[in-house]
Amino acid sequence: MKTAIIFSSTHGTTEKAAQLLREHLKGDVDVIDLKKCPNQSLTDYNSVILGSSIYAGSVKSRLKQFIKQNQNELGTKKIGLFLCCMYEGDKATKQFEMAYPDELRSQSVANGLFGGEFIMSNLNFIERKLIKKIDGVTTDVFKMNAQEIENFADQFNV
Ligand SMILES: Cc1cc2nc3c(=O)[nH]c(=O)nc-3n(C[C@H](O)[C@H](O)[C@H](O)COP(=O)(O)O)c2cc1C
Repeated sequence: MKTAIIFSSTHGTTEKAAQLLREHLKGDVDVIDLKKCPNQSLTDYNSVILGSSIYAGSVKSRLKQFIKQNQNELGTKKIGLFLCCMYEGDKATKQFEMAYPDELRSQSVANGLFGGEFIMSNLNFIERKLIKKIDGVTTDVFKMNAQEIENFADQFNV
């Protein structure tokens, strides 16, 4: 079984999550950055895991575009879906539902909310202003959930 973890990340958190997830998955796994490979072919893979971060309530447009372009082929694969985001609980679940189309969510064998990070030195001026205004955050926050990543892998490996 060959698996592709295909992710879209702005400041690297989703990439870190994807790499961590790879360590827990069985079989041959490639981690693919949509920024570098926007037209990645899925032909070689039986399983595809899609992951993105959330900005202003929305999944990254690169991932949206990729899903649109590969809708039919994705329908033939074993699917897993995850998000990196700072919201938790119902708010995070709502974001997840908005992020991925119904068909993919009903096909998915593992869904993950892996948490997120604010690393001030990675953010631009406007991003720092926004998170200060909206969340009151002015220092680094690390909320990546390694246990969730492991649980996701256990579910996906079955
Ligand atoms: C400007 C800005 C807006 C954000 N908006 C949201 C949001 O609407 N919901 C949320 O849960 N997290 C939000 N986040 C948190 C990011 O999803 C989080 O920082 C994530 O770890 C970023 O991952 P990346 O580096 O892979 O892009 C926001 C972060 C920034 C900097």
